[in-house]
Amino acid sequence: MIVVCPSCLTRYDLNDRLVQEPNFIARCTKCQHVFSAYRPVRVEEIHFLDLAAAKKSDGTDNVVAISNQKGGVAKTSTCLNLGLSLAMHGKRVLLIDFDVQANLTISMGYKESISFYEAINGGGNDLGNHIVQTKYNNLWLFPSNKNMVLLNKKYFGARNFEFMLKDRLMTIRGRFDYILIDTPPSIEFFTLNALTASRLVIIPSQCDYLSTHGIDQILKLIQLIKTKTNPSISPRILITMYDKESTASKMICTKLKRLYPGLAFETLIEMDARIREAQIMSMPVLEYHQQSKAGLQYHQLAEEILGRLPETH
Ligand SMILES: Nc1ncnc2c1ncn2[C@@H]1O[C@H](COP(=O)(O)OP(=O)(O)OP(=O)(O)O)[C@@H](O)[C@H]1O
Ligand SMILES: [Mg+2]
Repeated sequence: MIVVCPSCLTRYDLNDRLVQEPNFIARCTKCQHVFSAYRPVRVEEIHFLDLAAAKKSDGTDNVVAISNQKGGVAKTSTCLNLGLSLAMHGKRVLLIDFDVQANLTISMGYKESISFYEAINGGGNDLGNHIVQTKYNNLWLFPSNKNMVLLNKKYFGARNFEFMLKDRLMTIRGRFDYILIDTPPSIEFFTLNALTASRLVIIPSQCDYLSTHGIDQILKLIQLIKTKTNPSISPRILITMYDKESTASKMICTKLKRLYPGLAFETLIEMDARIREAQIMSMPVLEYHQQSKAGLQYHQLAEEILGRLPETH
C-alpha cells in the first residue's frame, strides 16, 4: 500500500498486512507532518481507459488549473469569471468543479448534481454524459457534490491515481477550446489530478504579506509535478483583490513581480464588491453588472490567455 504525505509528497510503501484499519494516523518521517491516511483501493481497482495514452499525451485541449493551497484567494471566482469571459469571446469552455466544497457549482445556481465520483463509479466511461450545458452560450459545467470526498479516500495514494482525471478527459477531447479546473485549498487527490492534466496553472494570489508563502508552496509542487507526472505544465500568478488605494497592496504587488519575474499576468483583478454581490445572486459578475471593474479585468485576462495559449481547433 502506498501512502503519500500531503505536506511534502514523500511516498511510503507500507506492508498491507501491518495496517488493518481503513483509516489511520501517520507521521511523515521526512517533514514530521501528522495526517489521516486511508487504505487506498488496490492498484488494480483503478480502472483506466488508457493509462499509457494519458501518460504520453500532452493533451490537445487547453486545460488550465486554478490552484493555490491558500484559501479564499479567488480561485473559484477566477474560474467562473474567466470562463464566462472566454465563452463571451466565442470559445467553447468547460468549467470543472474539482472541489468537494462545490462552490463553483453553487455559484452557478446548481444544487444537487452528479460529480466526478459518479462518473468514475458506474456512470459510464464518457465524461460528456455528466456535463451540464449552462444558460450561458458556449459555457458548460462539470459539477461537484459531497460524494467527491470519497474519491480522496478511495484513490489518494493508489498507484497512478494522479492520472485519473487526465485519462477521463480524453473522452471529451476536441469538444472544448478551454477546460478550466477549480481546485480546493489543499494538496490531495483533486489538486494533484488537476495539475497532472493541465498545461497552464493560474495561481490567484491576494496582495497580503503571506501571499509569497502560498506561491512558494505551489511553485515547489509544480516543480515536482513537472518531474513526475506532467513535464508540460507551466505556472502564472494572477494578482487578485488588488486595492489600488492601499500602499500595502502596491508594495506587495511590486514585491511579487520582483520575486517571480515574468510569472505574473499583466492583468490585475481589483477589489470589487460586485464580485461578492454577484456570488450572492449565484451569477458571474459580468452578468450581474456588465461594467463591473473586476468583470472587465477578467475580460482583459481572457485576452491575455487567448494570446498565450493558441487555439487548438
Ligand atoms: N476581486 C474581488 N473583489 C472582492 N471580493 C472578491 C474578489 N474576488 C473574490 N472575492 C470574494 O472573496 C471570497 C473568496 O473567493 P473565492 O471563493 O473565489 O476564493 P477561493 O480561493 O476559491 O476560496 P477556497 O480556497 O475556499 O476555495 C468570496 O467571498 C468572493 O466573493
Ligand atoms: Mg474555491
